[in-house]
Amino acid sequence: MSFYNIYVTQRKMATSRVLTRFSQGPKALFQYIQVRSAQSAAAPAAQAADLKKFEIYRWDPDKPGDKPRVQTYQVDLNDCGPMVLDGLIKIKNEMDATLTFRRSCREGICGSCAMNIDGTNTLACLYKINDNANKPVKIYPLPHMYVVKDLVPDMSNFYAQYRSIEPYLKKKDVKDGDIGKESYLQSVEDRAKLDGLYECILCACCSTSCPSYWWNSDKYLGPAVLMQAYRWMIDSRDDFAEERMAMMEDGYSVYRCHTIMNCTKTCPKGLNPGRAIGEIKKMMMTYNKQKAAH
Ligand code: SF4
Ligand code: SF4
Ligand code: FES
Repeated sequence: MSFYNIYVTQRKMATSRVLTRFSQGPKALFQYIQVRSAQSAAAPAAQAADLKKFEIYRWDPDKPGDKPRVQTYQVDLNDCGPMVLDGLIKIKNEMDATLTFRRSCREGICGSCAMNIDGTNTLACLYKINDNANKPVKIYPLPHMYVVKDLVPDMSNFYAQYRSIEPYLKKKDVKDGDIGKESYLQSVEDRAKLDGLYECILCACCSTSCPSYWWNSDKYLGPAVLMQAYRWMIDSRDDFAEERMAMMEDGYSVYRCHTIMNCTKTCPKGLNPGRAIGEIKKMMMTYNKQKAAH
């Protein structure tokens, strides 16, 4: 017999039991309901809680005298999604509304939930809650950034650096106001050169894992911004590659990269900013040689 047939048979039997009691009068029906309620109350207890510790960096500059600290929360994993962002949202919704973090898309597209989880810069929405029962989930803001509150870093310098590389199409034979009024065609091969670069979501996980960026973020552009600079330098439709290189021709903007490759190791989108910086250095070497020859 199929599950559906078993289900239908059971429902029919239950209905017939109720009808029988009903035909025996209201007292019999009342007693039947009391017995069924007692049976339901004696049903096995709900699934035991699977508690996981979340240790989270907290700091609120609006509270006078507040000092950075780590606060621990217990999250029942039986009632929580699998990702660290699910845990954070559960804590905020059910335990502590003051916990502050950024998030938007919850699917690795917006880059806003970047933070340091279990020692790695990553996206909370793509990072699974670790399944080691003895290991708490440790969450801090992106390292070496000023903190606005709790897990929210101040991205002002990062965005100012991004703006400084002029991350948009620039053409010499078209007036600024006319750009975008017609299509600029590109061969399939030239378009393919942008793969692995345009997918960057500017989460800053790479830049904030780079020791050179930690110590020189006022002058060194860092891997995320440099990869975007490279993306425009090699775009066949852009006419300003030389000017873009000239802008970075100082001892810091590019040359503070020491090829440590933390950036590539940490990128949650699997991109390779370290390689892009290597390519910029090669292009700049050629550009400088050509300049010297003239
Ligand atoms: S390269 Fe990767 S880690 Fe760096 S900003 Fe882009 S997506 Fe984030
Ligand atoms: S390769 Fe360059 S940018 Fe990447 S982590 Fe190392 S020093 Fe930083
Ligand atoms: S919430 Fe958008 S990348 Fe995580």
